[in-house]
Amino acid sequence: MSPPEPQLSISQSRSSSKDEPLLVLKQISHGFDGQAALQNINLQIYPGDRLALVGPSGAGKSTLLRLLNGSLAPNQGQVMALGRDLAQLSNRQRRKLQRQIGTIYQQFNLINSLRVIHNVNAGNLGRWSLPKALFSLAIPQEVAAAQAVLTQVGIPEKIFERTDQLSGGQQQRVAIARVLTQNPQVILADEPIASLDPERSREIMELLTQLCTQQGRALVVSLHDLEMAKVWCDRIVGLRNGEICFDCPAIEIRSHQIKSLYQIEPNSSI
Ligand SMILES: Nc1ncnc2c1ncn2[C@@H]1O[C@H](COP(=O)(O)OP(=O)(O)OP(=O)(O)O)[C@@H](O)[C@H]1O
Ligand SMILES: [Mg+2]
Repeated sequence: MSPPEPQLSISQSRSSSKDEPLLVLKQISHGFDGQAALQNINLQIYPGDRLALVGPSGAGKSTLLRLLNGSLAPNQGQVMALGRDLAQLSNRQRRKLQRQIGTIYQQFNLINSLRVIHNVNAGNLGRWSLPKALFSLAIPQEVAAAQAVLTQVGIPEKIFERTDQLSGGQQQRVAIARVLTQNPQVILADEPIASLDPERSREIMELLTQLCTQQGRALVVSLHDLEMAKVWCDRIVGLRNGEICFDCPAIEIRSHQIKSLYQIEPNSSI
């Protein structure tokens, strides 16, 4: 079977939209140790997008998310965030802009030995002075605000518990609460439900999509579960071998696109 046909990008088809894109990848290519991980990527993320990034392991999903949040600079091409070219910014300007891009990592990136409130307050670190951040470790600051975001994610009673005493699903909620504290315009989530059972997965997807729908944020989420992508997202981008194979509304996705996205190549060693 031949690889999937490239399709008209959904971003191109909505060029009449009055919204400016929040994030833009223009002609991006990136490789590691001489091996191409992403090639020729053009992608625009708009306010209100609920975009699922799907594709087989190694397709480049996490790399693409790292380019979108500016933690990785591409070998070629341009990354625009909120209208600014990331490559043209000083480190300070880039860090300031990166506050508008919240990332939820698969491994949560929480400090397990700390109480929940400190992990939630880590979302304030871009705003707080160093003395305030250090003082907060002794006497937690902005407790009411932390309580409010923990209420939003459904675990207000856990605020003073040690993070490693929480279940995986609860820790995922703490990671989401930290991003809510950061209050970004875009939330990027790398396989946020990979380690959760089906019910917890549904709850987390519902929460993430609600938080974006209610507040006009954009959500970009990498997922292995295609059914979840179709249920919770309105736009699906398929990545294979570092290239975008399709970028279309979730309701238009067809089974042949999925099949060719995940097909094993005849010369694959798997
Ligand atoms: N830091 C790195 N150093 C070297 N190679 C890397 C690095 N990060 C990613 N790669 C390579 O880039 C390619 C894309 O990796 P990436 O992690 O983006 O894939 P993915 O789609 O997120 O996969 P998965 O579904 O398994 O998480 C892979 O071939 C991977 O080995
Ligand atoms: Mg990944």
